[in-house]
This record gives sequence, structure tokens and C-alpha cells, in this order.
Amino acid sequence: MKHDHQDAPAAPEPSNARSGPLRIDLLTLFPAMAEGFLKESILGRAVQSGILDIRTHNLRDWAKNKHRRVDDTPFGGGAGMLLAPQPLFDAIEEIRTPGARVVYLCPDGRPLSNTLARELSRAPHLIFVSGHYEGVDQRVRDALVTDEVSIGDYVLTNGTLAAAVVIDCLARQIPGVLGDDQSLVGESFDEADGLLGHPQYTRPADFRGLKVPEVLLGGNHKAIGAWRKEQRIRKTMTRRPDLLPPGFAETPPEAKKPKTKRKAKREKSEGAEA
Ligand code: ADE
Repeated sequence: MKHDHQDAPAAPEPSNARSGPLRIDLLTLFPAMAEGFLKESILGRAVQSGILDIRTHNLRDWAKNKHRRVDDTPFGGGAGMLLAPQPLFDAIEEIRTPGARVVYLCPDGRPLSNTLARELSRAPHLIFVSGHYEGVDQRVRDALVTDEVSIGDYVLTNGTLAAAVVIDCLARQIPGVLGDDQSLVGESFDEADGLLGHPQYTRPADFRGLKVPEVLLGGNHKAIGAWRKEQRIRKTMTRRPDLLPPGFAETPPEAKKPKTKRKAKREKSEGAEA
């Protein structure tokens, strides 16, 4: 079954019921493009600590011809080459486990969001298929792919970097990966309100005469919370008004509630359940 192209409603989702690591397989013509990235920093530590089990594969290993060719010209003509069905069918059928989601990276897929990343992070097994050239034979998408994901409205030369982006984004949603789960709170697109993040400062309080806002130095956590929220609303209004409900900008400041489309939707669905 292909998963819906829409973002899932912001209803509470079941928490991850996996007992072991999340297994992630990446099928690509360029494993080296992703391998370094996946070994570094937070993802590398998640692999070391057994939260993630990431395996990269060269699609050519499933080619059946002497030259390890995996592509061919499109029927009906047109520019470019397509990844042929045989190596992809063989590879996916060999790697796939029950319940695995097969994610094809493509510019015409469902746009990546934290919501989608969270949903993917709860799967028992993820197989990422990186396209190259003009993409893959449609039969692969129809028969094997469960999710088609785009990382933005632009076209990359292949899907490997896109897969790395999706893996990074979903991995940080898994409890334990960031070390401190609080790191997800207050960042841009925060699950609670969907606003952009607030400005952050560290020592020194005065750097070349550039001062940290006074409120952050006083230790009044209520005042700090209110300042941060206000900053997040302001930034969202100027940079991403599309994240806010219609009419938000015209609302008088005293009546303004920091409620984004996502929050309004969740409250509506909670109201309907009550
Ligand atoms: N492959 C090429 N462009 C892409 C994009 N924008 N997102 C995901 N995969 C891609």
C-alpha cells in the first residue's frame, strides 16, 4: 500500500514499538556519497550505540550483465537514462523484511517535514532507493515503493544526498539519538506549535559591544519563555506567514494566540473527540 501524499493529521501517533535498532538500508549507485555522512557526529553515535543499524549497498551488485549496467533508455524516446527494473526488484526483494517501508527519493514525492520524518522513524525497517539519471522505471514505483519523498522543490543529480537528509531528519526524532530530548523543544517546526525557532546566545554577554538581550541574563524563566515565544511568533510572521492560520497577521496583538495551522488543527480534532 502506498502511503498518502498528504501530511498526516497532527493527532497523537503511537510511540515507536521497536525493540531493537531501526534498520535502514540505502540502495544507491554512490554508496560513498552517504557513508562518510552517516558515520559522523550524532548519526555515527546512534549507530555506535545500537539505536540505528544503517547499511549502504551499491545497486550494481544486483546487475546481471557483464558491465554491471543498471540503466537503459526510456521507451517512447526522450533525454536521459532510467534505472531498469531488474536490479531494483532483485535488491529490494532480497533486502525487504515484513513491514518495511520502501522510500523512493524524487522531486515529485511527498514533501519532507518533521511530521513525515517522525512517521518514518516509527517503521520497523526503512529501505531508501536513490534514483539517478531521469529516475527509475515506473514499475518499481508501482510495485515496490511504499513512500515517495521529496526534500524540496528543486532537482538534484541523484537521490543519495536526499536520502541522507531524510535519514538525518528522522533519526533525530528517535528517543536517545539527540542525547537530550529537550533539544527538540522550541526549535523550528516544534511539534507543539509549529513556529520557527527563537534567537539563541551564548557567552560572552557582551561581544565587541554586541549585547545579549537583558531578559536572558536575569534567570526569570517565565519572562524568558514569554520573550522566546514572542520572538518565534515575530519571526514566523515575517519569514513564514504560510505556517500561520489565515488572518493571523491582522489580529490585534493583545488577542494574538501563538497558534499555528497545525496547532489549530490538532485542537479541532481533540475537540471533535471530546
Ligand atoms: N532527487 C532529485 N531531486 C530530488 C529532490 N528534490 N528530493 C528528493 N529526491 C530527489
